[in-house]
Amino acid sequence: MSFRYIFNKMKNYITISDIKNLQQTISEALRLKKENTAAGLGRGKTLGMLFFNPSLRTRLSTEKAAKLLGMEVMMMNVDKDGWTLEFEDGAVMNSNKAEHIKDAAAVLSQYCDIIAVRAFPGLENRDKDEEDLVINSFKKYATVPVVNLESATGHPLQALTDALTITELQNVKRPKVVLTWAPHPRALPQSVPNSFVEVMQRMEVDLVITNPPGYDLNPAVRKNTEVTHNQDEALKNADFVYVKNWSSYESYGTILSEDKSWTFSEQKLKLTNNAKIMHCLPVRRNVVIDDAVLDSSNSVVIQQAKNRTFAAQAVLKMLLEEKRDF
Ligand code: CP
Repeated sequence: MSFRYIFNKMKNYITISDIKNLQQTISEALRLKKENTAAGLGRGKTLGMLFFNPSLRTRLSTEKAAKLLGMEVMMMNVDKDGWTLEFEDGAVMNSNKAEHIKDAAAVLSQYCDIIAVRAFPGLENRDKDEEDLVINSFKKYATVPVVNLESATGHPLQALTDALTITELQNVKRPKVVLTWAPHPRALPQSVPNSFVEVMQRMEVDLVITNPPGYDLNPAVRKNTEVTHNQDEALKNADFVYVKNWSSYESYGTILSEDKSWTFSEQKLKLTNNAKIMHCLPVRRNVVIDDAVLDSSNSVVIQQAKNRTFAAQAVLKMLLEEKRDF
């Protein structure tokens, strides 16, 4: 058995904390991007992907990653095509919920070697969303590894991609990375910024979060990360700017501001150290980020989207290796 497997074992990929050695995982993803050295690892194995919500990048990049490893892929839009699931233990199931997660996850484990799930938060009840009931129930009742394709509180595949993209592009040892809130007409989850902050806290970067008052992220996620409500100040000398909207955590799930002065514009870009501009996509053009920035050479959003495949490939590879007998 090689040391690589000892130090980077992974049973599930639910949060960034499931990655034991981040640098090693990033290096693995970069190696796979250069050369697919694991093409046969997944032969005879099946990835099952369950979507309770829409997706473009996560769905297709994870399918591509699995196929690059030689896996078969099965996909289901559970919200449209599946039985309505009951998640409460001990529920008396005499309402509209036809199948208990206990049975569904056990059955799916007979068909799949890895189960991947996307389930967004309701954004109405903070305590309930923080339980992350859907992904954690799959983790509890499946007998195979579970991968988070974006849950109520996190999007760890996106965050690993973002760490990979910054590693590829950084030209200073310790870049300044700014996560900035931007306006959006709909209330969005905190999943992407949560996981981005969690992964950046483990990188050799100077991380600053900037958002309007009332939009501070969960203190358990922010920890000691600097937060300022002055966007222009935060952007000074930034090497990377991650632009993202999220709804309020304090006034949970609400839109407190649509202040257009927070839209990421050419003028904002000029405040930075010619920063690379990041966004997970999909992006509302000229609301979140202006065309002039998205269509400029500073934008790396397409490179980020491309890297989704290699981050997913590294994660699936580690899960397949975990199950392999050495
Ligand atoms: N960034 C991201 O997760 O994109 P999708 O919602 O299209 O999967």
